Amino acid sequence: REREALQSAIDEAYDAGLLGGNAAGSGWDFDLYLTHGAGAYICGEETALLESLEGRKGMPRMKPPFPAGAGLYGCPTTVNNVESIAVTPTILRRGGVWFASFGRPNNTGTKLFALTGHVNTPCVFEESMSTPMREMIEKYGGGVRGGWDNLKAVIPGGASCPILPAELCGEAIMDFDWMRENKSSLGTGCMIVMDQSTDVVKAIWRLSKFFKHESCGQCTPCREGTGWMMRVMERLVRGDAEVAEIDMLLDVSKQVEGHTICALGDAAAWPIQGLIRHFRSDIEARIRAKSVIAAE
Ligand SMILES: Cc1cc2nc3c(=O)[nH]c(=O)nc-3n(C[C@H](O)[C@H](O)[C@H](O)COP(=O)(O)O)c2cc1C
Ligand code: SF4
Repeated sequence: REREALQSAIDEAYDAGLLGGNAAGSGWDFDLYLTHGAGAYICGEETALLESLEGRKGMPRMKPPFPAGAGLYGCPTTVNNVESIAVTPTILRRGGVWFASFGRPNNTGTKLFALTGHVNTPCVFEESMSTPMREMIEKYGGGVRGGWDNLKAVIPGGASCPILPAELCGEAIMDFDWMRENKSSLGTGCMIVMDQSTDVVKAIWRLSKFFKHESCGQCTPCREGTGWMMRVMERLVRGDAEVAEIDMLLDVSKQVEGHTICALGDAAAWPIQGLIRHFRSDIEARIRAKSVIAAE
């Protein structure tokens, strides 16, 4: 549907003379082509996207050269998210100073955020950067299911962003600096809200399974590490592990992080690191409970 809507908007723009030769009477030619991917997550990574556009497997390229130097068909290329492109006309019209007046210094502008999971009204909305997370959940998400005290954790910006426990969510500010200072990441700004009924260990295992599935397989730490981490996570969900394996898992996640061609390796490592940082006692309790049952 999105593709159809965008294509008809492009067709209308051509008919109105806003695109094509001498676009909008500017003296410049401007063509816009829409290409449909086949659904692989990795094709969102900018160089895998270029490979895919050129008709090859969506495997990220080594950098440098960066796309700005040699991108699509070897030409200088800029890759941007549609959200960045969509806000550009408004910034040009109203000025950079206006846009920068939103949010804290170094974290300026407006952004699309989203709420999903255990909120009363899941939604996508545009807000000023640096708005408190709790304010967003209450104003746009209709609050946490069962009330704020029923909150267990929030993943602040999509699957790769380390989970934040409820204690931190009350003071969390949705911007780059706060998230970095608190060992998480703003990511896409699309929050996954989890109430007390959530099995957080299982939730993170599910993310590990996703990253294992989506790894393109060309770097050994990512190809082997994502599968290895997923299998350990699988046992942690059941409590079928040794307590010492928690640190072993953390250690392996650090060997994947920063040692791969693209950031999918980091994305697979961070949710696990966040889980161990904030919910180690939950994992240990599960292992102990399992060993008590085994002893009986
Ligand atoms: C594994 C992986 C998947 C990605 N997927 C997306 C995606 O779906 N959409 C997106 O805009 N950027 C994605 N990115 C980030 C892009 O590589 C790139 O940084 C971004 O599109 C740049 O656009 P922006 O500067 O306008 O945000 C992904 C990166 C990685 C490492
Ligand atoms: S980090 Fe993973 S997804 Fe990225 S290039 Fe390496 S193997 Fe492929």
